[in-house]
Amino acid sequence: MARLVAILPDAVADQIAAGEVVERPASVVKELVENALDAGARHVRVCLEQGGKTLVEVSDDGTGMGREDAVLALDRHATSKIRSAADLVGVRTFGFRGEALPAIASVSRLTLVTSDGEGEGSELSVNGGRLDRVDPAARQRGTTVSVRGLFFNTPARRKFLRSTASETRAAHDTLTTLALAHPETGFSLEVDGATRLLVPAGQGVVDRLAGVWGRDLAGTLVPVSYAAGAFRVTGFVQRPADAKPTGRRTQLFVNARPFKDPFLVRAAEAGYRSSIHPGDRPSLLLGVTVAPDEVDVNVHPAKLEVRFRDRIGVERVVEEAVRDALGRLDAAAPVGEWRPMPAPGAAGQTGTSSASLMEEELDLTGTGGSGSDRARAGFDAPLVQLFDSYIVYEAPEGIVIVDQHSAHERVLYESVMAELRRGGAAAQRLLLPHTLELTDEELDALESHADAVRNVGFEVEPFGGRAVVIHAVPVPHPRFDGVACFRETLADLARGRFGGWANPLERFAATFACRAAIKAGQRLSEPEMRRLLLRLFETALPPHDVHGRATIVQLPREELERRFGRR
Ligand SMILES: Nc1ncnc2c1ncn2[C@@H]1O[C@H](COP(=O)(O)OP(=O)(O)OP(=O)(O)O)[C@@H](O)[C@H]1O
Ligand SMILES: [Mg+2]
Repeated sequence: MARLVAILPDAVADQIAAGEVVERPASVVKELVENALDAGARHVRVCLEQGGKTLVEVSDDGTGMGREDAVLALDRHATSKIRSAADLVGVRTFGFRGEALPAIASVSRLTLVTSDGEGEGSELSVNGGRLDRVDPAARQRGTTVSVRGLFFNTPARRKFLRSTASETRAAHDTLTTLALAHPETGFSLEVDGATRLLVPAGQGVVDRLAGVWGRDLAGTLVPVSYAAGAFRVTGFVQRPADAKPTGRRTQLFVNARPFKDPFLVRAAEAGYRSSIHPGDRPSLLLGVTVAPDEVDVNVHPAKLEVRFRDRIGVERVVEEAVRDALGRLDAAAPVGEWRPMPAPGAAGQTGTSSASLMEEELDLTGTGGSGSDRARAGFDAPLVQLFDSYIVYEAPEGIVIVDQHSAHERVLYESVMAELRRGGAAAQRLLLPHTLELTDEELDALESHADAVRNVGFEVEPFGGRAVVIHAVPVPHPRFDGVACFRETLADLARGRFGGWANPLERFAATFACRAAIKAGQRLSEPEMRRLLLRLFETALPPHDVHGRATIVQLPREELERRFGRR
């Protein structure tokens, strides 16, 4: 009987590997740029023609290769980055499999021009995986890889390529991600001869973020810096008031390595709970730092995903980190132009060395106390009420302006949620029970929220027909009009206000808090203002109200100084 089992020729094996590593031009960009970064490049230039379908070219000024190394690099499992399986744990380089170059070369016409700066350079030409020529080449130290006719020899795969615009977009996104991970490296992207991205070398994270996401978006972000247990989380999250339902950007890193993880994004969003309009999706860039043996980076062919040993732990810390960042006074919307503001004493902004997002640049922990502590430091200052609606005071960093209604709403929301969970707030019996005629919709709303209504302190009974009688009401503050609040809350619930809130308890709490809070236009005494602020800063998210708007606006002292030409 004839033998059926045979070892595949290398060229076929490479093509199969290419199926996993090289999916589209963006994957070629990713692999080649990662190689350039691993080679210590300070500048990386990427050129695309027709979305990379005709050409992807990546040039760098890294270490380059001598001729023998260059020839070897095109062989499968040829790598300079690890020597044994043990090196895989905590591997710092992007590459470690020695697979990318041969895989790309097997499905394209590839030329590699490289020089290690000693003697003459080399030019290697590979055609569908076959090394055709090795020539001497004049080149400064560094490497240029040109990939033409991707998938020319695998027509079935070529058919799967998308439109030029869509391939361009994917490649651009890939480069953006790498540019964010490496602010110290300069990047450019040319698409059919036009420059699409240009960021200089030696940037800090904040400037790099503004450079690739744009100043407008960057201006809506607040810094995150938090550590708990085995994890440290740094980065930026968007102010709830600036989040929109579409067009958000997210970027995750673990130990400076970009990865994708919708569940971790979800965990970050959970940190926004009750401060964001349902349906709004905040932009965020978060880096997790963890001991290398706590995370496995070799679980995905294109290294797009990672696996955490303590999955629940990392989700919890990310959520806490976001919540902590949003709760700081720094997270309050500033007046005037946004300036990158890692606080004084923070390292960074110089973007030296292997500066990665999580290691040096965003170390904001040394800034002394949380935002709320600092805000509270301003409480000795006199409080002023403006327009019977805003409370203003001087804090060390600037002028703080608080919207009294939103602030009270946030305070009430949290205490109502606590009461609903605990069951039973203090209620005050009315001297004269109050009867009220409701609509069908309001009766329905009352029925479906009966427990919550009782737990916040209303005592209500049916009174025949559509009428109800109110015996007792809660007393959240002395100016509270319980009957009016009851009526307005039910009307809101019947109209489906806060309808986007999936959790009925939260929906009720938000509605009730909004109706029960003191209104704009009510004059407050100084002790009342002080009490309100103290309670506000005891909540988890003082700067944001429950509608996804600001409760606090700050006018940084720095901004004042800038306006008056003192800086
Ligand atoms: N731009 C470059 N500059 C210098 N050396 C390079 C460059 N690109 C590749 N090399 C060398 O070629 C080797 C093979 O590259 P290749 O991308 O195939 O594998 P790798 O990066 O080691 O691992 P992986 O398959 O995980 O990317 C690298 O280990 C490196 O030594
Ligand atoms: Mg590589």
